[in-house]
Amino acid sequence: MILVTGGAGYIGSHVTKKLLDNNYEVLILDNFSTGFVEPLEILRQKYNGLSYINCDLGDSEKLNEIFAKNIIEAVIHLAAKIDVAESVLKPELYHQENYLNSVNLAEQMTLVGVNKIIFASTAAVYGDPKYTPIDENHPVNPLNPYASTKFDFEKYLSKCQNLKYVIFRFFNVGGSDEGGLIGKSHLKSQDILENLIKVGLNQKEFFEIFGSDFDTADGTAVRDLVHVEDIAEAISSALKKIDSISGETINLGSETGFSVKEIISEAEKVIQSKIPTQMIARRPGDLSVSVASAEKANRLLGWTHINSEPGKIIRSDWQWRKTHPVGYKI
Ligand SMILES: NC(=O)c1ccc[n+]([C@@H]2O[C@H](COP(=O)([O-])OP(=O)(O)OC[C@H]3O[C@@H](n4cnc5c(N)ncnc54)[C@H](O)[C@@H]3O)[C@@H](O)[C@H]2O)c1
Repeated sequence: MILVTGGAGYIGSHVTKKLLDNNYEVLILDNFSTGFVEPLEILRQKYNGLSYINCDLGDSEKLNEIFAKNIIEAVIHLAAKIDVAESVLKPELYHQENYLNSVNLAEQMTLVGVNKIIFASTAAVYGDPKYTPIDENHPVNPLNPYASTKFDFEKYLSKCQNLKYVIFRFFNVGGSDEGGLIGKSHLKSQDILENLIKVGLNQKEFFEIFGSDFDTADGTAVRDLVHVEDIAEAISSALKKIDSISGETINLGSETGFSVKEIISEAEKVIQSKIPTQMIARRPGDLSVSVASAEKANRLLGWTHINSEPGKIIRSDWQWRKTHPVGYKI
């Protein structure tokens, strides 16, 4: 059985679907703070072998009970707080949630002898890129508490003698299940794709472009979008290969940068209508360009970002949201 922390969240539910497709038994641990029951119930209608428990990662006693009662082969650790702006306002909360709770999880695993973990980190640990594409040797410079708490747990894992681990640094994750079963649940987020969809659904009047004076071809920021299905595939193959790739830190990105204006134009093609925009000053801390090198993921896992094309990513989100305009209900 595979334990997926944060499995009720956006990426977690898609990873869970991939694991079920690959015939793993999955146990989800989630406190449902930003996750939903609905995608899990949808998955349970289609698959056998999925169960979930409402548990906070900080609850050592309950964690201990879960590890004692279930035969867990490996842990995929996705549970986290992910709002960068909130992390700047509440750094202690992020230290507790993303670092101390993760340490608690690793300690409980060690106590019961579960020794495999795959950890979801972020490209935000690199800070402002010194060069692109960003490979894993690029210097690390987390610029906010969200990124630094993720990097703190990376460092913790690297010192754990008794754990086999793989760290993934995700770039900008987007898209929904291509089969339309489940979808993106980040309705409150500031992410670019979510805001384009909201304008498309008439839930927002304008799409705000933050900054037109970046040092890029059209002046808008450049981002690397990676399809959630490709993320799920990488995690599933790392699970199979963890004995041989333990200790590795691996980027997951599409290796191609698209400017905000280019992404808007892709969205207009999918939505088939003009997206009204408003130019706003750039936000402090916004990077000009973020593009991954995924050579290592390809070399170690044979991974390719086969679905990570902006049109495809936006289309899958759009298809799902047209049928779920306000997302999940529970
Ligand atoms: N979405 C992205 O573009 C992106 C990029 C880089 C890294 N990541 C990482 O991927 C992971 C998943 O992100 P997501 O986008 O699916 O976010 P999400 O908010 O949709 O999912 C996080 C899940 O963790 C659960 N959770 C949070 N705190 C918990 C706690 N203390 N105990 C138990 N469960 C808890 C939430 O209820 C939610 O279901 C995170 O670790 C995030 O840092 C995401």
